[in-house]
Order: sequence, then structure tokens, then C-alpha cells
Amino acid sequence: MLSPGPKYSALLEDVDRMISDTLRTATAELQAMVDHLLARGGKKLRPLLVFAAADLPGTNACAETGEALLKTAAAVELIHTASLVHDDVIDNAARRRGMETLHCRWDSRAAVLAGDYLLSRAFDLLSTLEQRKTLLPLMSRSVSLMCHGETLQQGKRYDWRTTEHDYLRFNFLKTSQFLAACCEAGGIIGAASPGQLRALREYGCNLGQAFQIVDDILDYAAEPHRLGKPVGGDLGQGVVTLPLIYLLRSRKREPALLRSVLSRRGSLGAVFEARLREAVKRSGALNTAARKAERCIEAARQALKSFPPVPARHLLERLAGAVTGQLSAVQGNP
Ligand code: FPP
Ligand code: MG
Repeated sequence: MLSPGPKYSALLEDVDRMISDTLRTATAELQAMVDHLLARGGKKLRPLLVFAAADLPGTNACAETGEALLKTAAAVELIHTASLVHDDVIDNAARRRGMETLHCRWDSRAAVLAGDYLLSRAFDLLSTLEQRKTLLPLMSRSVSLMCHGETLQQGKRYDWRTTEHDYLRFNFLKTSQFLAACCEAGGIIGAASPGQLRALREYGCNLGQAFQIVDDILDYAAEPHRLGKPVGGDLGQGVVTLPLIYLLRSRKREPALLRSVLSRRGSLGAVFEARLREAVKRSGALNTAARKAERCIEAARQALKSFPPVPARHLLERLAGAVTGQLSAVQGNP
């Protein structure tokens, strides 16, 4: 995504080491799946949020908080990876981060178990911390909300009348609130004040909304080889995201096509799907969604205004910029 600088790059290497140590297992098949997951790496956005949020209040990390931060950063990356392993089973996605998904390389049963294993290792790490009384409920609640969001979104598949309000709520539950919890966890370890924790959550929520909106724009606009995962999956799975919501809302464009889509509840079939995908791309819907993501990023930046201009704040601002920055690389530049 971006280079976080020498201090945070070194911390992320420590996170990688901690994750591979904590995932070591005597079960050969599980270890093979773990190795596959570790080989594909990842952006480590969530660990970075933990580290940067902890540095913001200006408290100096001591050896003890350093260990707690490292374990928390590793735990949130494990939770995130577990959620993606399960999400790829749910979405039946073939590739992730440029590599075959676990359920395609092995099978769904093995992948679900691997996700469960990662999740249990994450909570085991958190349970060793002095701050466990705050961090365990924070993270377990966050995972519950993710499940809640995924379930609600699944229940709305092929419902072409899904609104922007519905969509933003699903995003909050499945993505944003977890990013907010990562920021909050860092703030808790960094001894942030209640007001600072609120600001950190505000930043995380807005960053998460923008992040998911951009992900959903890229599902229409990006080339699969650039993204490292398939494109077009959302419409194919009947998941109604912001670009499509904006198109369906503007009935002036392609009125016959949109009337026909809105009149059914269920799969559209390949021909309709292709026409709809093209209509989304030709309309201004991708641009409108991109502007919405930019407004969320602006709100995320605003939430940081009360913090001193330390390097951690600069990193969080750059992370925010990098989210919408991904759109400049896609064809048509929405
Ligand atoms: C990606 O969404 C998925 C999520 C943000 C959350 C998935 C959450 C769960 C499966 C429940 C929690 C489970 C565990 C084990 C913690 P997407 O499909 O829109 O994004 P994608 O394009 O990257 O697949
Ligand atoms: Mg998915």
C-alpha cells in the first residue's frame, strides 16, 4: 500500500515473526495451510493502525507496552486473515492476494478449520495481556459484529432495492468497526484519553467506509491481475454495492434495463449481468462512489486534527490518502 518508514517496517517484521511462531502446529495439513497463508503476506494495515494509534497520544512505549502492542498487532492481523479465509469460502472466491485461496487448494472443510485455528490463536495472544480485560471484549465484540454484518449482507443478496443506508450499515459492521477497534486497541495500550479514543474510533470508522467503498469500486473497475483477486464477484454473487446502488437510483439512464432489473428478486443471468456491469461503468456511478469515499477520507483526516503533528499522525494521514489513491491506477480513473 505504502512504505510506512523504517520504524513501522521493523515492527511489521516483528509481527510476521510473532504470527509464524504462534501458528506453528504439529498437524501437517494445518501447517501446510498456514504456510500457504504466510507466503502470500498482506498489507498489514490493521497492525499499522494499532502501532500508529498507540504512538499518537505521545506516551513513550516501554518494554511492557511494546510486547502488548506486538501481540495485539499480531492478533488483529490473525483475526483479519481468518475472516478473509472464511469470506472466500462464503464468496466462493478463487484467488486472494495473487494466490489460490485455501478452499480451492484444499477444500472448504479444511479452510474453515484453518480460519478457526487462526482465530483461536489470536484470542490466545490477547488473553496473555495485562490489558486483556479491555482488549478481549473489544475484539470479541468486533468479530461478532463482523458476523452480524456478513449475515445481513448475505440476506440481502439479489435484493436490487438495497439502499445506500443498508450498504453503509453492512460496511460498518463487516469492515469499519473492526478498523476502529484496531485504532482503539492501540489507543488503549498507548494510554489515550477517552476523547482521544473517540477520535481514533472516528478515524477508523471513516477509513473503513472508504476502504470498503474503494474495494467495491475496484470490483467493477480493476484488472484482476492488478488486484490479486477476481473482479466482478459482487454482482455475480448478487451482492449489491454502492456503484450499483447509485446506478439503480438514477433511473434516467438505461430506464428499460433498470426497470427490468428492479422488477425481479433473484439472479439476473449472465447476459443481464454483463449489461448491468457495462451500464455501471458507462454511467457516472463509479465517480459518484469515488467522491463518497473521498468524503469519508476527509472525515478520517479531520478526526486526527486534535492530535499533535507527530510522525504517527502523518502515517495515519498517508494511510487514508493511500485508500483513495488506489483509484488513480484503474482504467477510466473513476
Ligand atoms: C471481505 O468482504 C470480508 C470481510 C470484511 C469480513 C468477513 C467476515 C466474516 C466472514 C465473519 C467473521 C469471521 C471470522 C473468522 C473473524 P468482501 O467480500 O466485500 O471483500 P473481498 O472483495 O476482499 O472479498
Ligand atoms: Mg469476499
